Amino acid sequence: MTETRKLTQTPEWKALTEHHGKIHDTHLRTLFADDPERGKQFALEALGLYFDYSKHRITGETMQLLVKLAEGCDLRGRIDAMFGGEKINLTENRAVLHVALRAPIDKQIMVDGVNVVPEVHKVLDKMAAFSERVRSGEWKGHTGKRIRNVINIGIGGSDLGPVMAYEALRHYSQRDMTFRFVSNVDGTDFAEATHDLDAEETLFIIASKTFTTLETMTNGRTARAWALETLGDEAAVAKHFVALSTNAAEVSKFGIDTANMFEFWDWVGGRYSMVSAIGLSTMIAVGADNFRRMLAGFHEMDEHFRTAPFEQNLPVLMGLLTVWYADFFNAQTVAVLPYDQYLKRFPAYLQQLTMESNGKQVTTSGERVDYETGPVFWGEPGTNGQHSFYQLIHQGTKLIPCDFIGFTRSLNPHGAHHDILMANLFAQSEALAFGKTEEEVRAEGTQDWLVPHRVFNGNRPSTTILAESLTPEMLGKLIALYEHSVFTQGIIWGIDSFDQWGVELGKVLAQRIMPELDGHANSELKHDSSTNTLIRRYREQKGNG
Ligand code: F6P
Repeated sequence: MTETRKLTQTPEWKALTEHHGKIHDTHLRTLFADDPERGKQFALEALGLYFDYSKHRITGETMQLLVKLAEGCDLRGRIDAMFGGEKINLTENRAVLHVALRAPIDKQIMVDGVNVVPEVHKVLDKMAAFSERVRSGEWKGHTGKRIRNVINIGIGGSDLGPVMAYEALRHYSQRDMTFRFVSNVDGTDFAEATHDLDAEETLFIIASKTFTTLETMTNGRTARAWALETLGDEAAVAKHFVALSTNAAEVSKFGIDTANMFEFWDWVGGRYSMVSAIGLSTMIAVGADNFRRMLAGFHEMDEHFRTAPFEQNLPVLMGLLTVWYADFFNAQTVAVLPYDQYLKRFPAYLQQLTMESNGKQVTTSGERVDYETGPVFWGEPGTNGQHSFYQLIHQGTKLIPCDFIGFTRSLNPHGAHHDILMANLFAQSEALAFGKTEEEVRAEGTQDWLVPHRVFNGNRPSTTILAESLTPEMLGKLIALYEHSVFTQGIIWGIDSFDQWGVELGKVLAQRIMPELDGHANSELKHDSSTNTLIRRYREQKGNG
């Protein structure tokens, strides 16, 4: 058996620990004062993205040491392994090839000796043809009415990407159609999504990689009953239901003709699936051309990640900075703060991408890590967050690295709105970095007792990502940036970023509890005393007791 490499014992990690000891107190004020060019020095321009990482607690040496860490972890080799179709999702013995979903037709990406790119394009073409028929009104409902409403039913990766992309690209969407997304098994989600819709004009997209997910199957069955209540005839299902899945057998069992199924493959992870068939709702909303523009943006970032030297590689730098704060500053979270209303669901989308991927405590060889792995990702669009949680980021006791995302041009220019919005973005990162000293507060004539309350320590790190405007291409680039940053982190931490065993236990226990909720109040429960009492109380209140 080969001896496994212990990350914290590597010379690269030790060098970073020592370096952190030397610079962790250095203030960003000092770093900027010492180097008048720092704002440009630690900024990178690539693929139309301006990535300013100068307001981080780093020096040139930090970045060199972080890059060495990446090299020591064979990041280059692992990138090649992913793009080469190797089964890098070890615990599920699967290739990880979301990059193939956005590869141009002339690329070759092999899985088990087969080039998967032609298959990807075949499905994209089928999606495009279907989307066009729905958008143009050619695809009619069972009673001959045109489809005006599209409801995507899915959860996790089969929901978060589609919702986020629909919101992000709403500017490009077909405005005479309604798009809704049902994910929660809470019946309220379905009820509110459908209460004002006409079943004759509604298309349901049942999106599930496995087609066995309890929430989605429950919502799917409810949708069928709801539609048939109006449409009356089983034959209507063919006109009002399509499926997105890897599992044709389950799709058939559910009652959807596999001719109305758009397939994808087991080498597409759920949280990486929004540009597979799972993107059908996005494509219907924005049209195939815009969808392909988004794919082109993804692909550009994929190629940048695959080929750019680490020092100039956006996802690598972003991933390394995440590791730097999580492991050396013990930062527990990262705030993602898009200054664009269209990106309002971007932080929620990133939560699954980052935390389902890197919320792991053992390495790929099964050993417990002795360092921190994936931080909590969270956020809200600016400026709303400023009037909510920014207080804690500015003056709280926690260090929260922030990603500010903004665009030079608004898609909805209205008077001074955009300048006001962007002035706030720039002001926030400046305030976080430089703060306001006691002397400055006193110089303003502040009363003594108020001084400590009005001091901003600063030295709070942030990245600013600036692009020209939120185009479909740019959305693709931004998402791929985070995807590959997550990959970079996972490789450094030596974990499997592509499995999600942590979601299983709760699912199994829920299956066990479900029949118990229907049972007689006195029937025997074999849980702990807390769970037993909660179940009994629930039964009693609902009237089973
Ligand atoms: O429970 C987690 C999960 O497996 C996610 O990884 C996935 O995106 C989601 O459930 C939905 O799965 P499916 O697409 O198979 O319904």
